[in-house]
Amino acid sequence: MKKRILTGITTTGIPHIGNFIGAIKPALELSKDYDDSFFFLADYHSIIKNNSTDEIKESVKSIALAWLSCGLDPTKTIFYRQSDVPEILELTWILNCVTAKGLMNRAHAYKSAVSQNNNDPDKGINMGLFSYPILMAADILMFDSTHVPVGSDQNQHIEMTRDIATRFNHLYGPLLTVPDSIIQDKQKVVLGLDGRKMSKSYGNVIPLLESQKTLKKSIMKIVTNSLEPGVPKDSKNCTVFDLYKNFATEDEIINLQTAYDEGISWGDAKEKLFLKINSQLEPIRNKYDELYQDKNYINDVLHEGATKARSYAVEKISLIKEVIGISKIT
Ligand code: ADP
Ligand code: TRP
Repeated sequence: MKKRILTGITTTGIPHIGNFIGAIKPALELSKDYDDSFFFLADYHSIIKNNSTDEIKESVKSIALAWLSCGLDPTKTIFYRQSDVPEILELTWILNCVTAKGLMNRAHAYKSAVSQNNNDPDKGINMGLFSYPILMAADILMFDSTHVPVGSDQNQHIEMTRDIATRFNHLYGPLLTVPDSIIQDKQKVVLGLDGRKMSKSYGNVIPLLESQKTLKKSIMKIVTNSLEPGVPKDSKNCTVFDLYKNFATEDEIINLQTAYDEGISWGDAKEKLFLKINSQLEPIRNKYDELYQDKNYINDVLHEGATKARSYAVEKISLIKEVIGISKIT
């Protein structure tokens, strides 16, 4: 059986270097080991929590261009927008009808939203949030994906996808491929400006695609202690050092450790970090600027990706509809 990797990228926010190190780079590396790869923009997922039209539009564009600028080759990977493949929504409904409500009650994201409510447990919870894992199952099962790389927070959704597929297969025969997850390396948590995990929800990000000037300004804002130049610095629990490790070679890390022991100033340490990150982001930024100017490029790439994805989806949904009895009257 073919090994097919598939992963979705929720289109909220503007990409940051945590996304680059934790998601984009490893997924692009991983895709080399598979027979084929499907990467898509989960724009229907993104409207669950965000109803700003402009933010969604901006995010879809910048995230799509980020992946392409970081090296996604659309001739090798099928790269598409979830909303361009309407068969996914048909499958979502079908899967809704085989999924136990109780299974959804157990979803972490839903439970956490409920637990933040006081008197009314349903306050602020829409059905999109409740059935989020079913849309995700449809994304995965539509294309017979065998492996799904995700962050550990998404593992429960893959388990649910497996449950839903197994239930469908039990009812109608073995038509759906039960996928395995590939859980991302936990070591790779990139820290943000304040030392917590870098995340758009904490407002502590270093953006991936902004100008060199903005990159430098962000790095200079990293919170450190007030030790003077000449005083040895501790590289443990140090955001500057930690970020440096994500981009540097072993030798470069050893050299920075020596500089810490010798009392490098925070300004100089940040300058080293800036130069290191900048050298890796510069080609990505240049590519992004080039692609951004070309108004048709992104639409052409996504159109092409959707055409390829739909060639699988149309065939699969017709098989699925056939086994559930929604087919030509004979
Ligand atoms: P955010 O926390 O900014 O909302 P997302 O949840 O949209 O980011 O994450 C998109 C992808 O990037 C996920 O695969 C996630 O694991 C990865 N990612 C996000 N932040 C980090 C981080 N600080 N370190 C490593 N990976 C990250
Ligand atoms: N829920 C995933 C996240 O927030 C994104 C996603 C949507 C996804 N559909 C998917 C990931 C299918 C893998 C497979 O990160």
